[in-house]
Formats: sequence, structure tokens, C-alpha cells
Amino acid sequence: MSPSLTVRRIAADQGAVLRELRTASLRDAPYAFGDTLEDALSADAAVFDAAAARHAVSHTGTSFILYTEGHPAGLIGASFESAPARRAFVSALWVAPAVRHLSGGELLLNSAIEWLVGEGATQVYAWVTDANTTAMRFYERLGFVATGDHARSQQQPEQWETLLMRALGEHTKSAS
Ligand SMILES: CC(C)(COP(=O)(O)OP(=O)(O)OC[C@H]1O[C@@H](n2cnc3c(N)ncnc32)[C@H](O)[C@@H]1OP(=O)(O)O)[C@@H](O)C(=O)NCCC(=O)NCCS
Repeated sequence: MSPSLTVRRIAADQGAVLRELRTASLRDAPYAFGDTLEDALSADAAVFDAAAARHAVSHTGTSFILYTEGHPAGLIGASFESAPARRAFVSALWVAPAVRHLSGGELLLNSAIEWLVGEGATQVYAWVTDANTTAMRFYERLGFVATGDHARSQQQPEQWETLLMRALGEHTKSAS
């Protein structure tokens, strides 16, 4: 039987959970993210406590956590750039290998998009490493298209990243 998956916005006291998920994702899929495992491991626990406290209430950036049978098993970030551009982004998407292909990634993405729409977003962007064909296919299946923006990864300059975008509106209602 498939495990049941649920998603909830991070709570203010979940700094340790945020740290655990971030380090697990960087350990599992270092090719997928802009920061490194060393960055996450060397950061003080207080950094994650502060991020969780901020993400629990902020109108400009948050995190959602995926649970399987009550255990944290995935993460996504949602945030707005500062004004005036104020583009909406999803980032740091990760689902634990044991619960992949069960639509956990889609659940996380839909939760992040619902929050971004509630905060006024009409488009959502995501940077994806070109070599990460799984993530590229995942986002394209869920309505994202390449913007034409292409850049070298800041942390790993030998890697290139593509900026994807999905217009929100009618499509969002039918997809969530
Ligand atoms: C990308 C990632 C988040 C997807 O997570 P996921 O939970 O497996 O996502 P979903 O289950 O929603 O979709 C994955 C695939 O499973 C398929 N799927 C979903 N539910 C399914 C089901 N019940 N039965 C069979 N297949 C299913 C989807 O169609 C999708 O297929 P596709 O890859 O051909 O598009 C995950 O692979 C991951 O964490 N990768 C490493 C980190 C990473 O690359 N993050 C992205 C950074 S940009």
C-alpha cells in the first residue's frame, strides 16, 4: 500500500526539521542545488531556527514540508524577489528517494504555488540545472516552460541552469 503523503507550511519551531531536510537533500542530490552540503552543515542551528520562525509567518518567503505517515520526507521553498521585480520563485525542492513517484513533488509544488498566488503571484519561476533531466521533466509536465534565460551556476560554474516559468491563473485551479 502506498504511504499517505501530506504537506504543511513550516511551523516556527521546526528549525531542526528544516536543517535535517536541507542536509538530507544536499547529501542525496548535490547536483540539484545552488548551495553545498558544507554550507548547510557549517551553518549554526540558530540560522535554521531563525529561518523557520521567519518562514512560518512571512509574506515574502516560506517553506512547505512533505510528510509520510507523520515523518518529514520532503521540502520546497517559495519566495518573492525584492521590489520592484518581485518575481515569485520556487526552490530547494526535494523528495526523499523512498517516497518518489507518488506525487509528493507535485503536492509540494501545488502548496507552494497556492501560497504564492495568495500573496499575489501571477507567474512562478524555477531555476533548474540543465543536467537534472528528472527535475526538468517534472517541471515541464506541470506546465513550466523555458524562459530563454540560461546562466552558469554561481556555486558550480561548470554547470548551466535554465530558468523555467509557469503562468498562473486558470491552469493553477485545474492543476491543484
Ligand atoms: C524532482 C523530484 C522533487 C520529484 O519528486 P517526486 O515526488 O518523485 O515527484 P512526482 O511523484 O510528483 O513526479 C515524479 C514522476 O512520478 C510520476 N508519478 C507521480 N505519481 C505517480 C504514481 N502514483 N504512479 C506512477 N508514477 C507516478 C510522475 O508522472 C512523474 O513522472 P515524470 O518524472 O515522468 O514527470 C524528486 O525526483 C527529487 O527530489 N529529486 C532530487 C532533487 C531535485 O532534483 N530537486 C529539483 C531541484 S530543481
